[in-house]
Amino acid sequence: MKKQLAVFASGTGTNFVAIAKACAAGVIDADVAVMVCDKPGAAVIDRARELGVEAFVFSPREYPSKAAFEAEIVKVLDAKKVDLVCLAGYMRIVGDTLLTAYDGKIINIHPSLLPSFKGAHAVEDAVAYGVKVYGITIHWVNAELDGGKIIAQRAFPYEGSDPAEVHRLGQVIEHQLYVETINKILCEL
Ligand code: GAR
Repeated sequence: MKKQLAVFASGTGTNFVAIAKACAAGVIDADVAVMVCDKPGAAVIDRARELGVEAFVFSPREYPSKAAFEAEIVKVLDAKKVDLVCLAGYMRIVGDTLLTAYDGKIINIHPSLLPSFKGAHAVEDAVAYGVKVYGITIHWVNAELDGGKIIAQRAFPYEGSDPAEVHRLGQVIEHQLYVETINKILCEL
């Protein structure tokens, strides 16, 4: 049986689309078993529908705690026998419940050369700092925000000061690097 992926996203979902299309085309030898989204109304939900990928959409406010909604997520992942969880613009810190259940099986993509510029505004922070070499990092997820061991990085030069342009340049790299890196990890699972 093919390996089963879960992709977590909160927004546009271009990385989700890149991963799901790579699976459908056989470029990644796995299925996206489920897309998990914490933002009802996010564009990624429509992308999942278009690609025929099941979505688990939840509203954190409707649960008494992070542990409670993560317990629901774990049930979904267990039912789908998920081998690898890929965070792709999931703008929420992963808590103990999910980390314990999927220990060593969660990866994240981040739009900076970690350990520089952690957090939700990495590109804007890097531009404000005057950075000239930007990059993308894929890392294992642990309890420390953007702090897990680095799996892959790719850098690109940019001398300007437009965060939108950095996002645009970075996303082209993200889509390639995420597919390549998932393939490498799946070979080792
Ligand atoms: C990506 O650029 C990803 O690196 C970033 O969110 C974007 C999601 O884009 N993630 C973070 O900033 C995590 N700290 P997408 O919804 O188009 O895939």
